Amino acid sequence: MKNSQVFDYQDIISSILEQLPDMVCEADVVEYIKTNKISLNGDGKGVQAVLNFFQNGLYVNGKTVDEKVSFETEDGRVKIYQQDVLTFLKSLPSYSIDLIITDPAYSGMNQRLKLGKGKIIGKYKDKGDGAKWFDEFHDTEENYNAFLAECSRVLKPNRHIFIMFDSYSLLSLAPMLRETFEVKNILVWDKQHIGLGHYFRRRHEFIVFASKGKRHLTAKNIPDVWRIKRVTNFKYPTQKPTEVFEMMIASSAEKDFVVCDPFLGSGSSAIASLKRGCKFIGCDIASSSIETTTNRVKWYLENGTDTLQPNSLVDDKEIKSILTNG
Ligand SMILES: C[S@@+](CC[C@H](N)C(=O)[O-])C[C@H]1O[C@@H](n2cnc3c(N)ncnc32)[C@H](O)[C@@H]1O
Repeated sequence: MKNSQVFDYQDIISSILEQLPDMVCEADVVEYIKTNKISLNGDGKGVQAVLNFFQNGLYVNGKTVDEKVSFETEDGRVKIYQQDVLTFLKSLPSYSIDLIITDPAYSGMNQRLKLGKGKIIGKYKDKGDGAKWFDEFHDTEENYNAFLAECSRVLKPNRHIFIMFDSYSLLSLAPMLRETFEVKNILVWDKQHIGLGHYFRRRHEFIVFASKGKRHLTAKNIPDVWRIKRVTNFKYPTQKPTEVFEMMIASSAEKDFVVCDPFLGSGSSAIASLKRGCKFIGCDIASSSIETTTNRVKWYLENGTDTLQPNSLVDDKEIKSILTNG
C-alpha cells in the first residue's frame, strides 16, 4: 500500500486508533498495515486484523506473551519472562521494540575452541540452572540466524541493536549480522584492568552496534571505546556493569522507549533502562536469573538503590559526562 492510499484511509485509521490504548501510536499502525499489505476495504476483516494485533501481546497486557510473564511491575513498564530466547522473541508482536541491548551466552568459545572450560566461574560441567555457570545459547549458524531474524522482526523500523561479543564470537558470528542489519560500529568496552586469558590477558569485550533502517545517535561526540570497570564481587556469573547498558541506551533511546534484552542474566540492562526512563522487557532461560532480576528491580523501584551494583563503575570523565548529560 502506498502512503497516499494510507492517507485516503485516514478516517478508518483514526477510528482504529480510538479503539486502541493511548500508547499505540499512529506511525506504528500505518507501518503495520503497509508491511502486512492489509486492505482496509470491504468487509472489515482488515480493520479487525489490525485491532487484534495491537490489542494483544506487549501493547495491552494481552494474552500471547503475558500468560507466561514471571514478573511485571504494576505499571507494566518492566516485564520479565523465563523462556528460551527464540520462544520469547517469537511471542512478541512485530515492531514492538525500540531498542535491543543484549549480552548472549555464547557456546562457541567453550565448545569449539575448548577454551574457558568454566575456569572463569565455577566448573563448566556444573553449568545449568542454579549452578555457578549457566546454560548457553547453542550458537549454531542456524540458531544465530533465527535469533537475528527475530530481533529484526520485533524491532520497529529505524531503530538500533547492540549485541555483545567475546573475541571468538566476534570472528565467527558477528559477520552474520550484516545479512540482517546495517552494522555501523564495533565498540570496545575497556574494563580498565586485565582479567584471565590465554596469551594476552583479556581487558575488553566487543559490542556490535547496528541499525534497522536509519537512525542517528543521540549525540555526535560519543567515543567507540567505553572505559567502565568490571564488576568484581558479582552476584551472578558474567554480571555486567549497568553503565555498559546505560551507554547503549543513552546513545540511542528516547524516554519511554521499549528496551529489550533476551539474555537477561542479573538484570543489569533492566536497571539501566529504569535509570534512563525507558520501559523494559526481557527473558532468560534460568530461574536464578529471573529471581535475581525480579528482586533487584523490585528493590530498585522501592528504594532507588541497586543491590547488585551499589556504586558507579565509571571514573572516566568522558563516559561520566555522557551518562550525566546524555
Ligand atoms: C552472559 S549472561 C548475561 C549477563 C547479563 N548481561 C548481566 O549483566 O548479568 C547470558 C545469559 O543468557 C542466559 N541464556 C542461556 N541460554 C539461553 C537461552 N536459550 N535463552 C535465553 N537465555 C539464555 C543465561 O542463563 C545467562 O543468564
